Amino acid sequence: MDKIIVEGGKRLRGTIPISGAKNAALTLIPCALLTDEPLTLRNLPRLADIDGFQHLMNQFGVTTVIQGSRPEDFGRVMTLEATRITGTVAPYDLVRKMRASILVLGPMLARMGQAKVSLPGGCAIGNRPIDLHLKALAAFGAVIEIAAGYVAAHAPDGGLPGGEFDFPVVSVGATENALMAAVLASGTCRLFNAAREPEIVDLCNLLVAMGAQIEGIGTSDLTIHGVPRLHGATYKVMADRIEAGSYACAAAITGGEVLLQGASFEEMASTIHALRNIGVHAKAEAGGVRVSADGKLQAVNLTTAPYPGLATDMQAQLMALLTVAEGTSVLNETIFENRYMHVPELNRMGAHIETSGRTAIVHGVGKLTGAEVMATDLRASMSLVIAGLAAEGQTEVRRLYHLDRGYERLEEKLALVGAQVERVGDE
Ligand code: UD1
Repeated sequence: MDKIIVEGGKRLRGTIPISGAKNAALTLIPCALLTDEPLTLRNLPRLADIDGFQHLMNQFGVTTVIQGSRPEDFGRVMTLEATRITGTVAPYDLVRKMRASILVLGPMLARMGQAKVSLPGGCAIGNRPIDLHLKALAAFGAVIEIAAGYVAAHAPDGGLPGGEFDFPVVSVGATENALMAAVLASGTCRLFNAAREPEIVDLCNLLVAMGAQIEGIGTSDLTIHGVPRLHGATYKVMADRIEAGSYACAAAITGGEVLLQGASFEEMASTIHALRNIGVHAKAEAGGVRVSADGKLQAVNLTTAPYPGLATDMQAQLMALLTVAEGTSVLNETIFENRYMHVPELNRMGAHIETSGRTAIVHGVGKLTGAEVMATDLRASMSLVIAGLAAEGQTEVRRLYHLDRGYERLEEKLALVGAQVERVGDE
């Protein structure tokens, strides 16, 4: 198994190209199921999760063609064509490896009138039920049955009649599934308290480009007037605000300065707000977002929340930054119940963090020291790399498959700005 070795103490300087957003891509790809015409997605990140989703689409009979990607380029273009869908089952083995597979349920149900998807089960950061996905689809008229570890959904008379659903908890995935199911309904569907993350806006924009009728885009109340069919489209995936935020933390912890090329200041607003309170400078530029720090970082209190609040996907990376800030920070994780698994690993590097339930108290320390650490989930892995960049000596981060799920060629991007990071095979 590969590991990454980070030599700490190098100030990051230069430009980091930001890839297409993983979480947007994972909901844009299943939109191909909604039409028999080709869907071309540009700026798709090259990630293990995207390959996994492509494989799942192929299982349904969707053809996928990758165009014009040279190994040295970041991102790629994929054309998906679901002329004839030959399968409607997402098997356990694929869903288990990639939770986002659940996002085929809505579009498959909309197009085929039926779908069967394995229950994803728990994951490292928490329980992660899918009850809200199912309740929203049921509210639109789907009949849902759960048996033998699978969700089987069908639309009576072949199509969803429409309806209303008020989310008791904001859910990104459930909003996405509901939207993709609603666009081909025979009537109108309304969603209240829907997620309004930029990735949801990206999804709505693609659906509209395919001919969908959606009102309220960017707000928490969405009205979808079903249309009989959607057509193909060519669409550019938005920039990855979490990847950009992660590199912002990486630059800041080294007292460096980087241009996050292609990043959107607006979409990163909550992260930038947190960074500024920590003492990091950030400003919008024509080419992206420039971030710099002069080594003086101060403690802050942070609470994760649905967009436009602070993204839970930034919590671990900001915590890494706060380990060396002056003073004591208090972090509150409100989205997932088990998202502090990076804490014992950061503490192995000399951080001083205590947790109690959903609260973490970070006592800033003067310095971190390199250690062998184990990545436990995607963003936790990145927090260890960030800590390693500031630590004295070498940090070895193991279990890289987590990082490879969400960071396109991390070590190459970090090397571009002067970090000493090396990927090596484990003997
Ligand atoms: C998505 C993101 C993930 C991010 C998360 C929150 C993708 C592929 N993943 O995950 O990176 O951390 O949003 O911003 O886009 N919940 C329920 N029932 C449900 C669904 C969710 O109780 O049916 C709960 C979850 O357990 C969690 C909260 O709602 O506590 C938010 O989860 P949700 O927004 O659905 O996260 P994901 O879509 O899984």
